Amino acid sequence: PTPLILDTDPGIDDAVAFLFAVNSPELDLRAVTTVFGNVGPELTSANALRLLTLLGRADIPVGIGADRPLVYPAAFRAEGWHGADGLGGQSALLPEPAAKPDPRGAVQLMADTLRAAESPVTIVAIGPLTNVALLLASYPELKPRIGRLSIMGGGLAAGNTTPAAEFNIWSDPEAARRVLVEEDVPTSLVPLDLTLRCAVDGAWLAELAAAGGPAETLARVVDHYRRQYLAFYGVDEVALHDVLAVLEAARPGMLRRTALPVEVDCGTGAGRGATFGNRMPDATGRRIDVLLDADVAEVSRFVLDRLTAGIAAT
Ligand code: BDR
Ligand code: CA
Repeated sequence: PTPLILDTDPGIDDAVAFLFAVNSPELDLRAVTTVFGNVGPELTSANALRLLTLLGRADIPVGIGADRPLVYPAAFRAEGWHGADGLGGQSALLPEPAAKPDPRGAVQLMADTLRAAESPVTIVAIGPLTNVALLLASYPELKPRIGRLSIMGGGLAAGNTTPAAEFNIWSDPEAARRVLVEEDVPTSLVPLDLTLRCAVDGAWLAELAAAGGPAETLARVVDHYRRQYLAFYGVDEVALHDVLAVLEAARPGMLRRTALPVEVDCGTGAGRGATFGNRMPDATGRRIDVLLDADVAEVSRFVLDRLTAGIAAT
């Protein structure tokens, strides 16, 4: 299996991504690192520890990372979507953490994990990209040990936080620009354009809940998201954005890649945090793999099967 680091801000869809990661035989989750984002860093870290305990994997170290963006202060969190506790108000359904955070912190833990791995490591990043930017800036010599970055973020067509910007990129555009534009590590970007198309409906969530164990607990966490979607968009479906970045790591090829040079708007106007892909055929510059298409029915069936596979402990 591919060694995996999960960089995350749990977060309801992040929580589902944890289950997908530990249930994926192609992946070997070696470390979890947390970042500010949906809620503050104390909560994202506590939630990561609780989730690993729920999944019977409290042995996996959790390193606490950035508590703010690189340059400007954090302006906004996503408590409306994720609940004040980051887990849809349901964190009491999860066990108390069976482990403490790793004293090394996120960036050092990532670096040590990269150094210790016997083969290239995939980093799945499903929150603001602050920790990843700090890692690449601090340990450039470790870049060859990163097989791929698989990132949930951006939206070429529209944002979900401002008209221009998706939440993870908007939360730290300078970090995102460093990672997506300035660096040269092989990168997959799963944007809103695809995650919204792969939204799941009430019947899908009922199947998830019926599986029992951690899948049922997480289905109850997702219920909050579902109510928010109904209130905001008037539809009975939810996009489990972050899960698709783990799917891309586990099953490269299931989501269809388009190699594009991408730019991130780091200005302070209405476009701040926007991601743009350049479709000019002879465009120069670094290309990253943007996941823009998939067989949506195949993806939602695959994700459900993976989440309900009986590997995780109760
Ligand atoms: C992203 O923003 C967060 O709220 C979600 O967890 C996901 O990572 C979607 O825009
Ligand atoms: Ca997230």
